[in-house]
Amino acid sequence: MSAETHPVPQDFRARIGPDELAALRRAFDADPDAFWLDQAQRLDWEKAPSQAGDWSFAEEGFAIRWYGDGQLNLSVNCLDRHLPAHGDRTALIFEADEPGTGRTVTYRELYEETCRFANLLKQRGIARGDRVMIYMPMIPEAAAAMLACARIGAIHSVVFGGFSPESLAGRIKDCDACCVITADEGVRGGKYIPLKRNVDTALEMGDVPTVIVVKRTGEDVPMKHGRDIFYEDWRGALATDCAPEAMNAEDPLFILYTSGSTGKPKGVVHTTGGYAVWAATTFDWIFDCREDDIFWCTADIGWITGHSYVVYGPLMNRATSVMFDGVPNYPDFGRFWETIDRLGVTIFYTAPTAIRALEREGDNWVTRHKRSSLRLLGTVGEPINPDAWEWYWRVVGDGRCPVVDTWWQTETGGILISPFPGATPMKPGSATQPLPGITAELVDAEGKTLDGAASGNLVLTSSWPGQMRTVWGDHARFFETYFSTYRGKYFTGDGCRRDEDGYYWITGRVDDVINVSGHRIGSAEVESALVSHRKVAEAAVVGFPHDIKGQAIYAFVTLNAGEEGNDDLRKELIQEVRHDIGALAAPDKIHFTPALPKTRSGKIMRRILRKIAEGETQGFGDTSTLADPSVVDALLTGRQ
Ligand code: PRX
Repeated sequence: MSAETHPVPQDFRARIGPDELAALRRAFDADPDAFWLDQAQRLDWEKAPSQAGDWSFAEEGFAIRWYGDGQLNLSVNCLDRHLPAHGDRTALIFEADEPGTGRTVTYRELYEETCRFANLLKQRGIARGDRVMIYMPMIPEAAAAMLACARIGAIHSVVFGGFSPESLAGRIKDCDACCVITADEGVRGGKYIPLKRNVDTALEMGDVPTVIVVKRTGEDVPMKHGRDIFYEDWRGALATDCAPEAMNAEDPLFILYTSGSTGKPKGVVHTTGGYAVWAATTFDWIFDCREDDIFWCTADIGWITGHSYVVYGPLMNRATSVMFDGVPNYPDFGRFWETIDRLGVTIFYTAPTAIRALEREGDNWVTRHKRSSLRLLGTVGEPINPDAWEWYWRVVGDGRCPVVDTWWQTETGGILISPFPGATPMKPGSATQPLPGITAELVDAEGKTLDGAASGNLVLTSSWPGQMRTVWGDHARFFETYFSTYRGKYFTGDGCRRDEDGYYWITGRVDDVINVSGHRIGSAEVESALVSHRKVAEAAVVGFPHDIKGQAIYAFVTLNAGEEGNDDLRKELIQEVRHDIGALAAPDKIHFTPALPKTRSGKIMRRILRKIAEGETQGFGDTSTLADPSVVDALLTGRQ
């Protein structure tokens, strides 16, 4: 790891410099409640909160509450309050797959679209507390759909368009949704994605009363009478005003499904007030966004990054946010930089996997575009290797734009560890330090707190407003997943090193979650897809290092007696995973083996499988507990 420190670039001026940052930290230390109530004042409250946090991590059945007696509406905070003075300001720049074919949407237009959508939802009988699935491309109507749910108090659950119908069906069932909002098709990288048809397939496994279809390509799609309606057929008749519901701070705002180490994806629940405060605060602190900035976060709204930093964070701060419906390599590898020049993007936030993939194509793709509008760069989703960081800093940012490496999770609602661009010296590969209000610790396997420079597991010892509140429908799982490993502490699932300067270096997941191109994949989900194939007896899935994706999926598979492992079967198994989960979870390697390494009690020793997947031939540690130690030799000969 590089230990070189980059100071804040001399010409970079931010609202928060070293003194302001120190003052924020002091304010939190002096009086946490006052600090958090102060942050809440960024928002317009229907009823201002008098309390900050009320929480405990130690007891099962506990609740985490923030701003408990406050009332607000998040769509009002994103839209209405900006209209009197800034209605004509651009809220969203839609950048479509084909460069230059997008459009801009002002705050007033987005307000009207949101109200139309909200009125349509109401006409279809959808009310406060109902769950609405959103399975859409990155078009402005998708943001309007999210905001419309927030306006009427319905709980949205956005599902990334790359997930299969099976995955969508599982989520619809889990949260008992009553409506799906989708588009006829999506277009990405010149390819068409049959969103409506996927929805139809999903609904064969469990129907809903209403499907709203936005026309993106105009493709002729089947419509089920009474259930499916085209948004455009109704739009003209819908009122452009809709009274907002006054929501309690702790009313759920959205559910977002994410993978864990065990079982099926869990519905992470975020509530209204705390999430809003944290998304608004972190957007302001870390991106230093001002009136003349154009902010571009390349994430899809199907992920938490898209929720917090494409839609809610920017809109609450009255920013101009780019909604990108394309991919980094279409029409060519210069897409990001061409778009930055054309739109005048000043702040750019993307994933290490995209940076590594573009770095590999050579500097020319970057340097042929000016990028002179850029002033701040950011990354999120996985550890960034120092080489890729240096390239981003030196080639993309010409050595003048701070790089904010932001660590956070679906569960945290917003950024928790990151440099402040105007205040924190950067070390390539380190997310630097916890934000004011965030109390991080490193612990060893027994839960002992480690002081000073150390390596251990990353935990958080106190709550913050953006913390998830529960797993939808399964509060016991919430406790079990996050608070049972280290009693009284929130366990992130990440390993981490802290250096002598107190900088944090996230080393990646220490549980059975695999981070493929910044997407979280649970090994249990992939295993269950593999064993659903009739020829498969058992499967064990681990991650292995990959130059571009960060990690890729390595699957060990044992077959039923008499079956032969060959390339055709490999293809079938990959197809099975695509079908059950989506292309993003497809294994890179499938290794047929006569047996898996198990302890005498039948537990698979993943530690050994990880080493084999990483290409090691020795150093497997203590293998004496294996029921059959010869399994290791068999595995080594069959490596992919
Ligand atoms: O392992 C960490 C990694 O991504 C995980 C969270 O994934 P997800 O919930 O999908 O959210 C991704 C976007 C917020 C974390 O547990 N991760 C995220 N950001 C970083 C990171 N690892 C290292 N450095 C980061 N900046």
